Amino acid sequence: MSSPFSAGKLVIANWKMHGSVTQVRAALSVLSQDSACNQSHIMIALPTPYLLLANEWQQQQAGWQIAAQDVSSFAEDGAFTGEVSARMLADVGCRAVLVGHSERRQYFAEGQQVLSKKLKALAQHHLLPIFCVGESFAQREAGLAWQTVEQQLDEVMPLLKELPQVVVAYEPVWAIGTGKVASLADVEEMHTQLQKKLLHSLPACATMRVLYGGSVKADNAEAILALPQVDGVLVGGASLDLGQFKKICQASEKR
Ligand code: PGA
Repeated sequence: MSSPFSAGKLVIANWKMHGSVTQVRAALSVLSQDSACNQSHIMIALPTPYLLLANEWQQQQAGWQIAAQDVSSFAEDGAFTGEVSARMLADVGCRAVLVGHSERRQYFAEGQQVLSKKLKALAQHHLLPIFCVGESFAQREAGLAWQTVEQQLDEVMPLLKELPQVVVAYEPVWAIGTGKVASLADVEEMHTQLQKKLLHSLPACATMRVLYGGSVKADNAEAILALPQVDGVLVGGASLDLGQFKKICQASEKR
């Protein structure tokens, strides 16, 4: 039987709160014309107002897939001013949604309750959650890196159990946007533990991936993606630089 971890590497661009209509149009045009980027294992998580532009490209048969950066925890559409439902994201062609990103945990106080509701809403609309976990620098220094990550996973494990496909992104908080990357040995160790944990907790899940995120750039992507325990990368800052992002996509192709 093949391993649930043998599905190939994913590359997800997380634009965060950056971009403009002009910039998004130009980027999508470049991605669609580049053979390494115009692939179904490449996803682009744009800010919500630009998702429809990506959907228009999709209808012209772009090869990459659309992701969203967030979703409402309210499962049904209704009087929730400012919120965007899972149904709406599916309606504009999203395939996946980031959940539990450390910036959401930190600036919007998202924890177990709200993250569980978001996972439930996504499952109802067959959207793939990219569930993010990661320890702070203080937690790593205190020897609590694994404990922190394991707890973040345990909090939502009952929801992950319901999914046919699970993607977890390990993003050490101290490596996000800082230029500091976890050492290959640390990535290998954490990913090995995460894979073991997922295999043990989700024996029925057909496809699993553990991605790495945190200052992934053109010059370190190849080494990170070469690790057998790394099933892809979540790229923030470097995804806004198309030259770098193309190189990261190329590195994923070699795997
Ligand atoms: P970064 O962000 O690549 O800029 O460190 C990664 C992320 O937050 O997903």
